[in-house]
Amino acid sequence: MLWASLVVENIGRVATMDGSGLGEIEDAVIVVDADRISFIGPKSAAPPLSGVKRIDARGCAVVPGLIDCHTHLVFAGDRSDEFARRARGETYAQIMAAGGGIRSTMRRVRAASVAELVDDAMKRVLAMSKRGVTTVEVKSGYGLDVKSEIKMLETAQVLGERGPVDVVSTLLAAHAVPPEYDASSAWVDAIIREILPEVARDQLATSCDVFVEAGAFSVDDGRRLLRAALDHGLAARVHAEQLSHTGGAKLAAEIGALSAGHLELVDDDDIAALADANVVCEVLSLAQVFLRGQRAIPGRKLVDAGCTVAVATDCNPGTAMSTDVALAAGLAVTQCGLTAEEALRGITVNGARALGLSDRGVLSKGKRADFVVLDAKSPVDLVYRWGEPLARVVVRRGLVVSEA
Ligand code: NIG
Ligand code: FE
Repeated sequence: MLWASLVVENIGRVATMDGSGLGEIEDAVIVVDADRISFIGPKSAAPPLSGVKRIDARGCAVVPGLIDCHTHLVFAGDRSDEFARRARGETYAQIMAAGGGIRSTMRRVRAASVAELVDDAMKRVLAMSKRGVTTVEVKSGYGLDVKSEIKMLETAQVLGERGPVDVVSTLLAAHAVPPEYDASSAWVDAIIREILPEVARDQLATSCDVFVEAGAFSVDDGRRLLRAALDHGLAARVHAEQLSHTGGAKLAAEIGALSAGHLELVDDDDIAALADANVVCEVLSLAQVFLRGQRAIPGRKLVDAGCTVAVATDCNPGTAMSTDVALAAGLAVTQCGLTAEEALRGITVNGARALGLSDRGVLSKGKRADFVVLDAKSPVDLVYRWGEPLARVVVRRGLVVSEA
């Protein structure tokens, strides 16, 4: 007799993501003991159970808790005006050069308290959770001074403590050069001297990211910053080759970054380097289509070259005002050439890899009991039925966090 805190019965198809593809099991049962899976398999092989709570999946599909591995969901205000300006023909780079873009959100974030930031960001966290997200990465990068960058990371910490998702925090102080600095290198010096040590000491983030881009940070800035971050025990990430080809992808490979995001403009050499170095490539399809005139992220080429490919929302007020990671996966199929199965792996198992986590994103014995009972027969519906909330029951750490 297996004791269970939770049993999910009558599952039509469960996408375990174990091995390659969806790793589907039909007519399945999931048994949970506390926060872990103690059995997953066909009903015919299930042990006798003495259980507490039971969920009837009604013949529908179950998938791992979704993982949104790249977001900027802590911010204040919005930038609908810039969206409208771009629709009239201005570019993201032009708006940024004119003092808009990241710096405009920076002004709002600097003026906000942790409590205000938590209130605002929690709405997005709840929207994500309702749609099946159980782990989300959150970056700083709109504070751009020592105090405000720390404030953003404290906000992320509170979201993880009070919200229904696990939060993985990333320091992105190198998101834009603050107005108080003339040179990007001087701000990088300040980050290394004044922010990194505190972030590492107080465990406010587990990784450090840099926006390598014309008008933002150079490859040399990025290299210096990420080396220092590695010395502090943080993992490295790069925003690379989004608006111009500046060498961010090769830097990510050289430094052994955990992930590189965007990648619209990578060339074949970059792709080979990313594959060789095992850098998880984040396809941020929403940002690609949200900004007009972006080249399609070569998701197909990345997979074919042997890269591990994740998909994420990039949720932010400037280039991807959306909390819908399933939609990001749908767009990764039609815009970036992933198969439906690859896109689903991108928001589960490969999202976990982008965060350096191996205890989730896959449903098998011993893994975290984070999963979603869908209101759909096929897991593929998640990437096929755009914009529809398909999560009927969301379970995180063995507990129901939302039920439609
Ligand atoms: O990932 N590329 C840089 N950073 C964000 C945009 C941030 C913003 O515009 O507020 C991104 O797209
Ligand atoms: Fe981003």
